[in-house]
Parts: sequence; C-alpha cells; structure tokens
Amino acid sequence: MPPTPNEAQPRLTDVPLGENARPTGDSTAAVHAGEPRQRAYHAITTPIAASATYTFADTAALIDYHEGRIEREEYGRYGNPTTRTVEAKLAALEADGPGTAAALLCSCGMNAITTVLLAMLPSGSHLVLTDDCYRRTRQFVRTLLVRLGVQHTVVPACDYDAIAAAIRPETRLIVSESPTNPYLRVLDLPHLVALTKPRRIKILIDATFATPYNLRPLEYGVDLVVHSATKYLGGHNDLLAGAVIGKAQIIAALREAQGMLGGICDPHSAYLLLRGLKTFALRMERQNANGLAIASFLEEHPRVARVYYPGLPSHPDYAVAAAQMRGWGGVVSFELDGDLETTSRFIDRLRLPYIAPSLGGVESLVEQPALMSYYELTTEERLELGIRNNLVRLSCGIEDATDIIDDLSQALNT
Ligand SMILES: Cc1ncc(COP(=O)(O)O)c(C=O)c1O
Repeated sequence: MPPTPNEAQPRLTDVPLGENARPTGDSTAAVHAGEPRQRAYHAITTPIAASATYTFADTAALIDYHEGRIEREEYGRYGNPTTRTVEAKLAALEADGPGTAAALLCSCGMNAITTVLLAMLPSGSHLVLTDDCYRRTRQFVRTLLVRLGVQHTVVPACDYDAIAAAIRPETRLIVSESPTNPYLRVLDLPHLVALTKPRRIKILIDATFATPYNLRPLEYGVDLVVHSATKYLGGHNDLLAGAVIGKAQIIAALREAQGMLGGICDPHSAYLLLRGLKTFALRMERQNANGLAIASFLEEHPRVARVYYPGLPSHPDYAVAAAQMRGWGGVVSFELDGDLETTSRFIDRLRLPYIAPSLGGVESLVEQPALMSYYELTTEERLELGIRNNLVRLSCGIEDATDIIDDLSQALNT
C-alpha cells in the first residue's frame, strides 16, 4: 500500500528537509515546507484527497484513534490530508521558529475571521477594532457580534492612545489589519503588544496585505494571524480560502469551533492553494518590486494628489514599516486630482489592470473603492469611513512594472 500523507509520513514542520536542515529560505519553504519528502504513490505532488469520510480497519483502530495512539483522519469536517498539508506549509511560513505555530485552513478569509471572533469572544466581552479595515469585518462586528452580546469600540488605526483608552476590564481581543485597507497603515506591533500583554488581551492581526513574506506578526508576540488566502497566498484569483495561524493550543480550540461552524476549505481548493504557494515567494518579490516602482512613479505625477504606500517616506508609517516589513507589498492606493467622474474616466482608460475587487493575484486589478465596496453609501457616509471619491486602489500583479507604468501614464496623460 502506498503511504498516505497523513498517517505514515512525518510533516516537514516536525522533520527537517534532507538530513537535518530546516529550510530557512522563503522560496525553499514555499516549495517544500509542510510536505513529506515521499508522497502517496511516489508522486511529486500532494494528492487531492477527495473523501468526505475515512474508514477504520476494525474497532481496535477506531479506539487507537480516539486514544490518540494514531494520527489520522475521521470525517471531512474535522480534517483532510490535502488541507492539513496546506496548514503545515502555512504554519511553517508564518512561524517564528520550527514547530512554534499551527494553522487552521478555512473556507475563506471572512470565515477565518468570524471563526476566531465567535470562538474567542463570550457574551459580555468587548473587542477593540481599528477603523481602516475590510468592510465586512467591521460589518460583522457591528451587526452579528452585537446580537450575541459582544461589545466593541472602533478606534483609528495606529492611534495607540485611542487603543489604550478603549480597553475595558472585559476587553478580550484587539483586532487590526496590518497593512490596513485601503490606506495601508502599518501597526507598530511591539507598541501594541506592550499595551495589551500586561492585561492579558489577545491580538489578532489580519495580515492579508502583508503575507508572511513581508511580515510575521507572531515574531512580535501577536497571538493570531489571519489571512484571506484568496489573495497573495493563492495568488491566481482561482480559489477562496482563509487561514488562522498561532500557537497550537489556540488553533486546536479554533479547530473545535470549526467542527461546529463547518467553514472548511474543500480539498480541491486546498490543492490549488498548495500549488499557488509553490511560487509564493517569487510572486511576492515581483509584486513588492512592482508596488514600489509604481508608487514612486505615481508620487511624481502632477495629476496624482496623494499616494498611500508604506514604502514611500511620505507615508505616515514608513519608519514602522521599514523596521518590521521585508517588502511593502503590491497594493498602492492613491487619490487623483479630480472628482468621482474624473477618477472613473481614468480607470476606464486603463488597458492593463482589470476592474475588479480583490488583490494579490498575478493579474493587476484596479478599483475605485467609492464605486466598488462602498457603492451603496452616500458621499458623506463614505467620507465618514474615510473613503474619498477620487481614491483608487491598484493591486499590482506580476506583469512588468514598465508596462503597468506605461499604461498608468497614458491613462493619466489623456
Ligand atoms: C484584508 C482582508 N481580510 C479579509 C478579507 C476576506 O477574505 P475572503 O474574501 O477570502 O473571505 C478580505 C477580502 O477582500 C480582505 O481584503
């Protein structure tokens, strides 16, 4: 019988690549980490285990499983060999040392966030949320969590005095993105940790925009990292997935919650994610380079009123980003010198980026947030949330920077 990935084979997070060396390079880790050296059928790829349930040879095997003497699968909602392999790779990419982190793969980024919030916040507790963030996270906290008796305070991102002032005796969690969406604010993680740790408050960072290539929040003492793996980790705009990464004990509790909530990633999407992750480091290198080149170009252009990119010295968090991040990512936000209509016309003149929500894939995508995520709001309501009509968010793909710049140039100059 060929070895199955989950039962017979050690995982790379436990057993080093080759004889003794753990892969330390990001690209090596992206290709090899989390996967056993020999896979089922001696195939070089991890198979898609398309199985909803798993069989036991006899009752003794079932009891061995329950007693923890063998590690294996039981039922698809509790785990799957393909998704577990992805989890091991993501844990290895995010960990601040060998075996220090575990990961839970979820159906999408929103599911990763809601699973954490539902599992960790009892009725009567309180969380602090920073304001510049994915609209649906804010909406979940404001609507459904409130119904469950969980209170919240929204504070401006990177306003540490406001964060400190918002903390109450019943505060359990601080939730923020870093970099944030769409203004790419970068949190000073040591500052945040110093504020919260003495009070035993946990920190959740949605690092979708950063990815573990650019930022590893666990290294700074952050408790949990969330990703929309739909974005850079998958990288090809062909799957939806999410992940939570942190210490094994918390992830085990979240896995229990997932067993009830049911937001699993199906094995086919997990396989696509695993495949996308092979080139993760390469893509990030290119997207970081494209982001910086394009932000620098835009900042010099007379028709651009303001550029938001943490790799530019003009960004308020440039120093924090330079200290914490390895690259600044592929998303560039900017305001045109113009109104809603002028900005739409500029977007319509672009030939290379697709008009679409999302980010992090190989294709460049562009959106005018006022007409995409915030379409149903009035200008005043948008302004209250900090979304201006002339704001553009560009997610740089892996195309050649010169081609993207040429395209931006023709659209700005016409
Ligand atoms: C920062 C951030 N977090 C979470 C999500 C939600 O991820 P998903 O679409 O995979 O549910 C998004 C989606 O755009 C996002 O931008």
